Amino acid sequence: ALFQRGPDATLRMILRKPSHERTSEELELVFEELVHIAALSHLSTSIKRELSSIFVFEAHAQAGTILFNQGDEGRSWYILLKGSVDVVIHGKGTVATLKTGDDFGKLALINDAPRAATIVLKENNCHLLRVDKEHFNRILRDVEANTLRLQEHGKDVLVLERVAKQRGQHSAFKYTVMSGTPAKMLEHLLETRLGQSVGGMDPFLDDFLLTHIVFMPVVQLVDELANYFHCDAHEDAQTPEDREYIINFKKRVIQFMQKWVMAVRHAAFEEPSVCDFIEDLAAEVEADPDLNEETSIVHNVLTQMARYQEDRNQNAGQKWKLPPNGQPICLFSGNATPSKTVIRPDDDIIFRVYCADHTYCTLRFPMHTTAELIKACAADKLQLNRGPEDLVLVEVKSNGERSVFKDNDVSIPTGLSLNGRLFVSVKDHLDALTQLQEQEGPTEGVDIDLEILSTKELAYHITLFEWDLFWAVHEYELLYHTFGRHHFGKITANLDVFLRRFNEVQYWIVTELVSTPSLSKRVGLVRKFIKLAAYCKEYQNLNAFFAVVMGLSNMAVSRLQQTWEKIPSKFRKIFQEFEALIDPSRNHRAYRVFVGKLQPPLIPFMPLLLKDMTFAHEGNKTSLDGLVNFEKMHMMAQTMRTIRFCRSRSLGLEPPSPKSEGEVRSYISSFRVIDNQRVLTAMSQKVEPTRK
Ligand code: CMP
Repeated sequence: ALFQRGPDATLRMILRKPSHERTSEELELVFEELVHIAALSHLSTSIKRELSSIFVFEAHAQAGTILFNQGDEGRSWYILLKGSVDVVIHGKGTVATLKTGDDFGKLALINDAPRAATIVLKENNCHLLRVDKEHFNRILRDVEANTLRLQEHGKDVLVLERVAKQRGQHSAFKYTVMSGTPAKMLEHLLETRLGQSVGGMDPFLDDFLLTHIVFMPVVQLVDELANYFHCDAHEDAQTPEDREYIINFKKRVIQFMQKWVMAVRHAAFEEPSVCDFIEDLAAEVEADPDLNEETSIVHNVLTQMARYQEDRNQNAGQKWKLPPNGQPICLFSGNATPSKTVIRPDDDIIFRVYCADHTYCTLRFPMHTTAELIKACAADKLQLNRGPEDLVLVEVKSNGERSVFKDNDVSIPTGLSLNGRLFVSVKDHLDALTQLQEQEGPTEGVDIDLEILSTKELAYHITLFEWDLFWAVHEYELLYHTFGRHHFGKITANLDVFLRRFNEVQYWIVTELVSTPSLSKRVGLVRKFIKLAAYCKEYQNLNAFFAVVMGLSNMAVSRLQQTWEKIPSKFRKIFQEFEALIDPSRNHRAYRVFVGKLQPPLIPFMPLLLKDMTFAHEGNKTSLDGLVNFEKMHMMAQTMRTIRFCRSRSLGLEPPSPKSEGEVRSYISSFRVIDNQRVLTAMSQKVEPTRK
């Protein structure tokens, strides 16, 4: 074909004419040539015909000519007919060379983003076909190929895919990132998702901020950002255009920092390298008159950082105790309201470790201490006289089930189940471990006659209490939990405590019912618990709502026929509706529809969020052909955003008239619980033997 050798004089002549001067014979001639161009092969005949009239021919004599610069507005799309061009990126140099038949320049047009690279002619006498933006938008924008792969040095670095236009969604971006290298994704973010002109609701930036810890450690991220910020450090001569580009880029880095802190809050400041970088940034911004407008942003970030550091110093040395049963208790906190206390990695926790003969030692360690260290210390204190390789740290649950901790696991004490105990054991003797007698009995707690407490007041204080626990959970803990704490070396203590609470409430319901011998009292209790569920639902505490309803649906409770027979049908009907709401079928559809209509503040059913995370994790690889599978990150970020949404308004419940506030508060903070199903069923049998 002619175009493969370079179009002959006639074709050039035609393609240089304005489109209205091209005759139908001429257009036919052009069309026949377009058929041979690979970059157009996916397009229909009618589109190629349209293109015949608007393609413009461009010839450039000189190698080294710049076709356009990175950062420029995109005006045209090009196909290379003859010769070759270099793709050059600031700070990286030439990343790819494009040859005859390749096309380029689509990205900026479709995304309305600045040019992602500079295009420099590599040889003398290059020939190009050009389609200008307005024609491109009219003819090609909507039919363009679905996937765009960007390469550097012969390898894919970024894979973009068109997003189907969704009704009601006004994302300015037509391409979304499917996968990429961490560094290229960051570059793409800075170039397209930050800067003055960015609007819309494209979640790429937020996804990246919430999930980068999975594929790009903070230290690496800060390193890359610092490189971008200091990209002018090694360049001597700067044209005014260069300078403008550089300043523009510095502004984007600052904006990125601001959004980062907004997205993950204090977690951004936990790494010293981040704090150093922020201080660096602040100093540079102060010194650069071109960055005047950015000073307020940087100061704002600095203020938040200072507040975080002050708060951390005030609360340094927080101390917790894990009672043999029940929730960790804060023994010491610099904070005025201990209930709002977040568990931090370097907080100490006091807990017991048992060995096979049920003797124990009491240890005190920071939360982030590894299982390996705890194991070694406990073995030493309990005088096991065995090397660490022969020993394991293991949880024995109240039903005797055992689960072994990995050596590099952290936040061990809070990770135990409700009545679980920590044991250190010789590896070969694991099977001989038995639970303690006390694990089967109810946990310690306030012994009070439930009947006298107001149900509404109970629900209210349960909700306040759980709101604080929910509040303390960081979105990152969901990632740690899903990928495994040991991968990050980060604690999940706040999430652990919140999940323990779910089980605590659930088993409290069962424990209370099966340990009430009087039938009439049991009937009263069931009614009270149904009302409790209704109030929790009203207060939008769906975590407690699920726990209560699941407690009432537990086998040990549902089999209490005599009790249920005496429940008025009105109550039974309400309970059936509640059961329908927690029905897990069709992926918890009933609950999802219900919760989808609620406005914050609300406490979600946390186990389902974790299930969604696990589902996304197990169903999708993290890395695809060496690139980060960003679709997976997006799925996970969606779930993490749910948590953010639930807490996006503070809890402002109307308090019920206080009747016995003090008692209610101490009662609900720690329930008496048996969490061994076998024991509960046996107790249930005892209060209502099966009818023959
Ligand atoms: P656009 O951003 O419009 O302008 C520069 C073009 O270079 C870009 O579209 C791509 O078509 C092309 N290109 C090829 N390889 C790369 C790469 N690795 N990074 C960025 N752009 C690239």
